[in-house]
Amino acid sequence: MALSDEIARRRTFAIISHPDAGKTTLTEKLLLFGGAIHIAGAVKSNKIKKTATSDWMEIEKQRGISVATSVMGFNYGDYKINILDTPGHQDFAEDTYRTLTAVDSVIIVVDVAKGVERQTRKLMEVCRMRNTPVIIFVNKLDREGRDPFDILDELESELKISVRPLSWPINIGEKFKGVYNIYEHSLDLFTPDKQRVSERVEIDSVDDPRVDESVGETDAAKLREDLELIEGVYPEFDREAYLRGEVAPVFFGSALNTFGVKELLDCFVEIAPAPKPTTAEERVVKPDEEGFSGFVFKIHANMDPNHRSCIAFVKICSGKFERNAPYKHMRTGKMLKFAAPTAFMAQKKSIVDEAYPGDIVGIPDTGNFKIGDTLTSGEAIHFKGLPSFSPEMFKYIENADPMKSKQLEKGIQQLMDEGVAQLFVNQFNGRKIIGTVGQLQFEVIQYRLEHEYGAQCRWEPISLYKACWIESEDAEALAAFKKRKYQFMAVDREGRDVFLADSGYVLQMAQNDFPKIKFHFSSEF
Ligand code: G4P
Repeated sequence: MALSDEIARRRTFAIISHPDAGKTTLTEKLLLFGGAIHIAGAVKSNKIKKTATSDWMEIEKQRGISVATSVMGFNYGDYKINILDTPGHQDFAEDTYRTLTAVDSVIIVVDVAKGVERQTRKLMEVCRMRNTPVIIFVNKLDREGRDPFDILDELESELKISVRPLSWPINIGEKFKGVYNIYEHSLDLFTPDKQRVSERVEIDSVDDPRVDESVGETDAAKLREDLELIEGVYPEFDREAYLRGEVAPVFFGSALNTFGVKELLDCFVEIAPAPKPTTAEERVVKPDEEGFSGFVFKIHANMDPNHRSCIAFVKICSGKFERNAPYKHMRTGKMLKFAAPTAFMAQKKSIVDEAYPGDIVGIPDTGNFKIGDTLTSGEAIHFKGLPSFSPEMFKYIENADPMKSKQLEKGIQQLMDEGVAQLFVNQFNGRKIIGTVGQLQFEVIQYRLEHEYGAQCRWEPISLYKACWIESEDAEALAAFKKRKYQFMAVDREGRDVFLADSGYVLQMAQNDFPKIKFHFSSEF
């Protein structure tokens, strides 16, 4: 198959949701349709149960699972689908943000009873930054929930994106009868069954008398009324607008009952984008270029302390990746060959000889790679660094064993390369500050420093509200700001200026008092 055909048939995406909305269940059902698994219940949840927060060994065990489920590839018809899994636990949200840089589109799962929740809102912000096309799946229609029109309004206002329903539910909860597929003009009746696909009634249009026969006259009349309203309120579905990230098609269903999932998948493969060009510092790289290029978006450490090896996940951006071919590691300038790259098909990890744009290959690594590294066939290309987001929790990290300061340095450096958390160095007192999105990461760092590097650390409290990256076109204004706030200035690992605001009020005052300074909450600006 020609390179362009391989590219055109690939769909690389992530499913994101607030915990418990049904991400794992939906992923599993998609794999069932793709024949990648044969029974429901085969996909282990990658989420870390709340009860496990105090039990690090348990977390470790659970994290082990996520290597296998990090990427799930399967064929569906003519399409090659790559689902990138994201950690369910919000303390690992930074990992999710980075995964979103490696996908071409996303499916957002929303619980019909709960609507848009905090984590969904945050993840959507990341999608919006990159104009990632999104499809929304409103889940759990078999349970009592909110009115679908209310849900649509909430999606628009909370996720700040226009929506366009492509399927419509007939009642919800106990009275749920099925969905009308607006995209294909068909009617799917609901039969609560966790393994089987629902029944489809062939109809010509919503006015077909078979609709009344199937769902009863009252519900048929309500359906027609709803559809009329939808057609009146929402413009026709515009695929180009979806691809630009301006409008999100919405589907309704029940992942647990495998209902509405096939409709979602069939529409998804048709409308979702194939691998897109990637922007590098030098130029835009198109997937169908001959030269190979890719970047590392995730590093998964081996939790076994006796084998400190990792797997670096490389997203292929252009050309064909071949096993044992020499590729240039741009950051170090070294030529590297990979004898055992792995791909992830149907839940199995196996060595691959070649892979194409949109695919992810796992490369066994012993410390060569950093998050964001670029590999190419030779051309000097540097894909733009993956964004860091302003962390939410901060602690000073101190050495608790003076005999092991070298080990501590090395451990901190490598864990930061892996993207476990962010390091800032306060310019005033030289102390190191670790910023995370959740408490769990501090535990992870302490545990790994001890078990993998033989170093001991101690956490000391620091009262910080936000760390934000600052810049200004006016060098004088920047210098004045840094001088005035010298106690609160730090640098990140790339040497960029970071302002440490100890309260929301202080940050706002700084923004008011220094209009020439730009404050950024993500390192990508
Ligand atoms: P997550 O990955 O987004 O965190 O969610 P997950 O799929 O684990 O689903 C969370 C819970 O919601 C699970 O129940 C799951 O069975 C249930 N669920 C998912 N889809 C539907 C649906 O369409 N209808 C209904 N009624 N429930 C749904 P649990 O009790 O937490 O876990 P489990 O013991 O069933 O695995």
